[in-house]
Amino acid sequence: MKPFVYVTRKVPDDIVSRLSASYHVETWTEEDKAVPRDILLQKAASADALLTVISDAVNDELLSHASQLKVVANMAVGFDNIDLESASRHGVAICNTPDVLTDTTADLTFALLLATARRMTEASEFVKEGKWTSWAPMMLVGTDVHHKKIGIVGMGKIGTAVAKRAAGFDMEILYHNRKRHEVAEEMLGAQYRSFDELLQEADFVVCLAPLNDGTRGLFQREHFQKMKKEAMFINASRGPIINEQALIDALEAGDIAAAGLDVFDKEPISADHPFLSMKNVVALPHIGSASKETRMAMMMTCCDNIEAVFDDRPPKTLVNK
Ligand code: DGY
Repeated sequence: MKPFVYVTRKVPDDIVSRLSASYHVETWTEEDKAVPRDILLQKAASADALLTVISDAVNDELLSHASQLKVVANMAVGFDNIDLESASRHGVAICNTPDVLTDTTADLTFALLLATARRMTEASEFVKEGKWTSWAPMMLVGTDVHHKKIGIVGMGKIGTAVAKRAAGFDMEILYHNRKRHEVAEEMLGAQYRSFDELLQEADFVVCLAPLNDGTRGLFQREHFQKMKKEAMFINASRGPIINEQALIDALEAGDIAAAGLDVFDKEPISADHPFLSMKNVVALPHIGSASKETRMAMMMTCCDNIEAVFDDRPPKTLVNK
């Protein structure tokens, strides 16, 4: 009998065909709706492999009822949706999709910074709503990005790729990270700062740290209060790294000038979320890696990993070694 692979989202035919060559494949088929939890649990109970996304909680509840499961190929670099300890205890290989999304996510992060600084979504809505009646010297003026200071919190592969883009804009690059990044220091002139120093000095604070026990709730109100009043906060990693209410309060009180957010505490964000009525917030629906090329590459990496496990080869990007 062919191993059973359950894919938790609707995926392109090429992916289904590739997997179907060797496995019995079922996929969730609704484009704009996540697989309901009861169906995911039911499929996981008989699956040999799961191809998951970041909003699927692969927790002890799921893993304890998935006696056949050998591999979870998570379509993301982040794996905070997975209980790694439980997976290892149940002998399930967990794989992610690093590298293939680095530049695409860095592009989006820098675009979000630019859009926030130059009020691009607000300006686009202004034109579309027919409000553009004349050219005016101070109409929709934003703030410059070039020659300013970017402060990157989390200098991994994506952080370094954002720093490269910032260097092209003649920005001064500050970073905070668990470990010093000698290559970024030498190649890009990046300067290490303590968390507090970075908050006080940067014009743009960009959060790219992974979500884990050490970073959950890292940004509280006091941290926004340490930033410059003109500073802008960009988050392209994970929502729970920020105390969202603290950010709302900071924006309302004018502790900082604006925020560009691709990620939120609870996704999708509700239609009445306070961020959505704030002019100084650019909100995106978690699209950091969302280019056609990169999303295909991420799914292909998931296929590579599933095939490796069933062929008794080490998966390329195993997380729980
Ligand atoms: C990731 O890869 O972790 C992204 O956030 C999902 O696009």
